[in-house]
Amino acid sequence: MTHARPLRSTTTGAIRGSIRVPGDKSISHRSLMLGAIAVGETVIHGLLEGEDVLHTAAAMRLLGAQAEREDNGQGAGVWRVRGVGLGALQEPAQVLDMGNSGTAARLLMGLVAGHPITCVFTGDASLNKRPMARVTKPLEEMGARFVGRSGGRLPLTVVGSGDLVPITYRLPVASAQVKSAILLAGLNTAGATTVIEAEPTRDHTELMLRHFGATVTTERLEDGALAVTVIGQPELTGRTIHVPADPSSAAFPAVAALLRPGSELLLNDVGMNPRRTGLYDTLVEMGADIAFENRRDEAGEPVADLRVRHSALKGIVVPADRAPSMIDEYPVLAAAAACAEGTTVMLGLKELRVKESDRLAMVAEGLTRCGVSVEVGADDSLTVHGTGKPPKGGATVATAMDHRIAMSFLVLGMASEEPISVDDGAFIDTSFPDFVDLMNGLGAKISEA
Ligand code: S3P
Repeated sequence: MTHARPLRSTTTGAIRGSIRVPGDKSISHRSLMLGAIAVGETVIHGLLEGEDVLHTAAAMRLLGAQAEREDNGQGAGVWRVRGVGLGALQEPAQVLDMGNSGTAARLLMGLVAGHPITCVFTGDASLNKRPMARVTKPLEEMGARFVGRSGGRLPLTVVGSGDLVPITYRLPVASAQVKSAILLAGLNTAGATTVIEAEPTRDHTELMLRHFGATVTTERLEDGALAVTVIGQPELTGRTIHVPADPSSAAFPAVAALLRPGSELLLNDVGMNPRRTGLYDTLVEMGADIAFENRRDEAGEPVADLRVRHSALKGIVVPADRAPSMIDEYPVLAAAAACAEGTTVMLGLKELRVKESDRLAMVAEGLTRCGVSVEVGADDSLTVHGTGKPPKGGATVATAMDHRIAMSFLVLGMASEEPISVDDGAFIDTSFPDFVDLMNGLGAKISEA
């Protein structure tokens, strides 16, 4: 991703149609990783073929697994992964380049930590700035060794071990990536490895580990925290996986439809894992007309079709304890809040500072440029003063290599008086390939700037 791709979004009419956004990013990464350490073949339907996940696929190949796309002749590829078996990942002959993906880097660091191999991890300029000590600290306690840059940042070398010791670790930050890294390291570790989380974070790793045959238990502790335990050295067997549409990606067309008069949009097969749906609860509280139709379970994950109609939104207070269930959705919620009537206060956003960009700063700066009144609190809160009218727009917003900042401001441009441009839309391909064509097919007017 060497060339910047500036994009411009112009006010649009109604958003109408029926679509399926690409597969869930979190589930896609995990299905490739677990497929690679299972015995036999894993068949993945609906894998997100975004750059983040393709980096994971490439890494699993370098670690000895086979992971190939098979064209089924109808455009939708099926992925087949042939695993090496738990404990049998090979030492890669090359550096593992994780691109822009924190999930790929952190989860894989955990997985290889439990193997007697040495791996070198790197990423792009955004990923190489992100904190890794949150993962290396517990993995060091288990017996793996790391040599990274200051703050434990990438590029970084992992010296893994087939002889880790199990730990019980209380998460100092609400992070599914840290939880998952420890559980994945615990897989090839004799005994029970436990992660305690005070706030519930996404549990795709736990659900999928069970699907592959591992024993994962949860226990509610006296203080209300949840202890998640994996029993080491299970027999993992290749499985079939149906990846639901990503609720974090569906958020962009959903908010666009809410904001544009006359809109009615059907979003099919959207993952409804309750640890991911905080944005939808928040939008409904703001007055959004969203119907959750045809609720069902697909391969252990709840799924629904979302019917979204234009709605007049009102500002609300979003509590801090909701943050883990909507951590990636604050930029697009901020776009919705900018068009709502009244003030929206989002509490507890400290973690936004260490995402693909400092999202708190980038959202506040971008909204200010677009004529929206915002405040960032010393407690890492974000306050957005909506007027119930279209924001002015007419600005170019910096995206700092962050796909969700780019998509959020393109959605805001659809509802602004004047077009909004983003300095670089290239990173949208990390999580939502074909975003522009898909949105334009629904009525958006997004073009190269
Ligand atoms: C993810 C966890 C979250 C989220 C990220 C995906 C995952 O990160 O922001 O996009 O797949 O486990 P943190 O664990 O840093 O909160």
